[in-house]
Amino acid sequence: MEILIRPTPEEVAVTAADILSAHIKRGAVLGLATGSTPLATYRQLIARHRAGELSFAGCRAFLLDEYVGLAPEHEQSYHYTIRNEFTAHIDIDDAAVHSPDGADPRPWEAAERYERAIIDAGGVDVQLLGIGTNGHIGFNEPAGSLNSTTHMETLHQQTVVDNSRFFDSEDEVPTHALTQGLATIRRARHLVLLATGLGKAEAVAKLAEGPLSASCPASSLQLHPQATVVVDEEAASHLVEKEYYRYIEAHRPAWQGYDGQPIEGVL
Ligand code: F6R
Repeated sequence: MEILIRPTPEEVAVTAADILSAHIKRGAVLGLATGSTPLATYRQLIARHRAGELSFAGCRAFLLDEYVGLAPEHEQSYHYTIRNEFTAHIDIDDAAVHSPDGADPRPWEAAERYERAIIDAGGVDVQLLGIGTNGHIGFNEPAGSLNSTTHMETLHQQTVVDNSRFFDSEDEVPTHALTQGLATIRRARHLVLLATGLGKAEAVAKLAEGPLSASCPASSLQLHPQATVVVDEEAASHLVEKEYYRYIEAHRPAWQGYDGQPIEGVL
């Protein structure tokens, strides 16, 4: 796992956009997260697209998750949100932006179909992730299987409270979601997890330095060969080995990209 510490959330977004841009230029299959954290990164990418630096024309995208019971046109559905915040503002084909069907009355079948669609697309090249205050990624809540594929999950009460800010009241937050599983997420070739703010500091420390445990679903990144965690100083504040992570970045070989591969033409 590589941990990149930036002074501010804005600089987290710039670094995340740099990493994603390299994949986007190769026409990647993108794994997209919703929630507040990636919004600044999406704004960066939109700005680069508007400046003529970045085209998403060859890209496809798969969302991490979707609320069960919300129609795609519901303003809080992730289908709607990702278009509103990101994909409607870039040149990706709308039909190439996929999400689990939260409105399917047979959610277990929708989950299976989604898992298959990701596999049929050749898998995700780069998966953007946020992290819940309780250590969830996607909607994989504590104590789920570390080997899960796309499935329906009951949201943790903490997640319902955290996400109620997007709804008129806590009662309106759906109780269930369809989410890529931890095994699905780990099949992506490069994982990029973003976290900002003090509220995420404990979860970030558990993800990177705690034991591999279903109690902190994000710790399953420890099993992935190419995971990059980009955090601001506040979110990094509980990391014991913070100085070592800075040292690693300061000594990064000039030829090495953030995906661990040699950067073409550097040597
Ligand atoms: C959203 C998702 C969630 C969020 C997490 C953090 O698609 O999968 O895991 O990334 O709940 O949310 P924010 O960024 O709003 O703090």
